[in-house]
Amino acid sequence: MKKVFTLLALLALATLAWAQPTVDGTIGSDEYANTAAHEDSGTTMTWTVEGDTLYFAMTMPSRGWAGVGFASEITDRKQGFDMYIVTIQDDAPVVLDMYQAATRNAPELDEDEGGSNSILESAAVHADDVWTVEFSRPLDTGEATDVAIVPGNEMIVTGASAVNMDLARRHERSNRGGAFVIEGFVF
Ligand code: HEM
Repeated sequence: MKKVFTLLALLALATLAWAQPTVDGTIGSDEYANTAAHEDSGTTMTWTVEGDTLYFAMTMPSRGWAGVGFASEITDRKQGFDMYIVTIQDDAPVVLDMYQAATRNAPELDEDEGGSNSILESAAVHADDVWTVEFSRPLDTGEATDVAIVPGNEMIVTGASAVNMDLARRHERSNRGGAFVIEGFVF
């Protein structure tokens, strides 16, 4: 009987280990439940929904900052998108929770747009011009500066990369490989 309990406990541990990624800046081959690749940009996105939390990770080739954004629909270009940018500030990688209020130009920090930083955990590494970034956030933060992520619903996912770490410097246009939009993305 004791053996059965031990086995069950081990199985439960294994499931937990698979279900909840470790936000440490490395993406294990079996760490996340779902994967999607955007071939033109060389971006791989991978994620797990655990309870009310989204664990999201991405590798994106970029010499400078890299960004990803989520939206439930496109209204006017990228206006209203829930953006996340990873860059280097004060010699350390940072992952910023941002909001795209304008139809063009840079997103702003959620804090400056009436929201707050909803990132629970984050880690990022920039090596050989490729970002590896992991972060977690509530699926629904309740803030107007974050889109509510509903697993199973079609959403918009956008990405962008830049040639330097300065957030005041824009990405190249999408037709030159600096930004992309995926419609019908399902978490
Ligand atoms: C998460 C980060 C970001 C994402 C995912 C993103 C994504 C996009 C997308 C999909 C477009 C429209 C497609 C196109 O360029 O043809 C766009 C346009 C634009 N973005 Fe971004 N962007 C981000 C950050 C920034 C930043 C930091 C800047 C400026 C410092 C910027 C400046 C612009 C400008 C000026 C346009 C208008 C392009 C045009 O009309 O030619 N973006 N962005």
